[in-house]
Amino acid sequence: METQVETLRAEALGEIGAVADRQALEAARVRFLGKSGAITSLSEGMRHVAKEDRPRLGKILNDLRQAVTSALEEREIRLLEEADAASVVALDLTLPGTFPAAGSLHPLTQLLDRAVRCFRRMGFAIADGPDIETEWHCFDALNTPPDHPARNEQDTFYLPDGRLLRSHTSTVQIRVMENCPPPVRIIAPGAAYRRDEVDATHLAQFTQMEGLYVAPGVSLADLKGTLEFFFRELFGPETETQFRPHFFPFTEPSYEIDIHAEALGGQWMELAGCGMVDPAVLEAICSKRGDRLYDPESVSGFAFGFGLDRLAMNLARIPDIRMLVENDLRFLKQF
Ligand code: PHE
Repeated sequence: METQVETLRAEALGEIGAVADRQALEAARVRFLGKSGAITSLSEGMRHVAKEDRPRLGKILNDLRQAVTSALEEREIRLLEEADAASVVALDLTLPGTFPAAGSLHPLTQLLDRAVRCFRRMGFAIADGPDIETEWHCFDALNTPPDHPARNEQDTFYLPDGRLLRSHTSTVQIRVMENCPPPVRIIAPGAAYRRDEVDATHLAQFTQMEGLYVAPGVSLADLKGTLEFFFRELFGPETETQFRPHFFPFTEPSYEIDIHAEALGGQWMELAGCGMVDPAVLEAICSKRGDRLYDPESVSGFAFGFGLDRLAMNLARIPDIRMLVENDLRFLKQF
């Protein structure tokens, strides 16, 4: 029996070492360890062995079973490793990968981000208001009487219920003062709407940035200092600024601002409206709030508003405003 065990051991280990795949390995397991396998039938031979020889032969058989079992396990691990290695051989790590197309920020968004960052450094918070507004927020509270041409239905988008798409972002000034006590210092970037014929320099929707600072003792010098600093930050230290007297119903005095900067093509460009908040606006806020926190005798403020679209166009030398909204990838990929 001992020689039988040795022959079987040699046969089993030799065969297991030579199998080429996991199917063959499983077949070998069944052949040696299975219910009617070679080792099992050898064990059944124990019945005919003399009693005193049984412990010794039993141990030899056990050793054989164990040796075959671990040979099977080792071979299985080897086969797995070989399969892994084979799958990597075909992998060329020097080939270029497939990249998701990375987008970039719209030129308008880039300008808006820079402008917002600059005003935040000066302590302005960001405020927001709805695009669909009441006539009160868009006109009445801004000292713009019913017969004012800005209210002309031909120029503005009215809804059947009398509300309208805001024609400027000055509406946000009113909403902020209605809801917050002074001091307030906000900017409000957002969309404004006018019934303009669409052409190379006009769209029916454009982007404005409103600013408002109301507190005791705010002066025209604060307005000039704030905006001059802003334009120099945005367009370079050589930027020249000119305040030209103008009229807005909601500011007094009022100015239009022209700026001259190499970054904007080296020409004077009309850019923004601004002025000191008209006492009539502060009075409208007082009656709406039912208190005197915005009494024009105790607080004063400045406001400004400018369009971002034309600025972005001049900065990036974009010839037609419609390019900003056409979503043509050939255009957008340049930024
Ligand atoms: N709302 C004005 C416009 O749309 C701009 C402006 C804002 C002027 C604030 C003065 C003060 O033209």
